[in-house]
Amino acid sequence: MTASTEKCSCEVLEEELLATLDDQLEAYKGMPGGLIPALHVAQGLFGYIPRSAIRHVSEVLDIPMSEVYGVVSFYHFFTTQPRGKHTVSVCLGTACYVRGGKRVLEAFKQKLGIDVGATTPDGQFTLEVARCFGACGLAPAVRVDEDVHRRVKPTKIGAILEQYAEEITEPEEAAV
Ligand code: FES
Repeated sequence: MTASTEKCSCEVLEEELLATLDDQLEAYKGMPGGLIPALHVAQGLFGYIPRSAIRHVSEVLDIPMSEVYGVVSFYHFFTTQPRGKHTVSVCLGTACYVRGGKRVLEAFKQKLGIDVGATTPDGQFTLEVARCFGACGLAPAVRVDEDVHRRVKPTKIGAILEQYAEEITEPEEAAV
């Protein structure tokens, strides 16, 4: 009797993504400075850069794994951790910091139950810090995905998160 070799859907999906990645990496083979755009392609496909993708980038571009890892860890816009559906960026630039950005960050950490750089267990929110996104006049500011929320108070973060939770929660049929 043999154990089932059937693959789960996530493994199939990863194989498909890696095959797509291999195809797209061909364009960067031998290209000077091609590693960074190649990594953007990988992150665009997976939402982050898993170890398997780093290995493929290394093999196809013929660049040592250590070098690929070095670039991934150097640039903050690359991540090796799965990301949440929504990214919450709390600004800790000077203006936001002095106007309570740290307290806002602590409130998000507590509300989401995660630390900076982590993702909630349900995969909905990733928490990170930022260094100014041009809303200093209305600090402290928080960005959720592409939306900038200004003059954020710790007491308001529940309402902010709910806006995004509503987007991802299937509306229930109203009881008649
Ligand atoms: S310092 Fe926070 S938006 Fe500029």
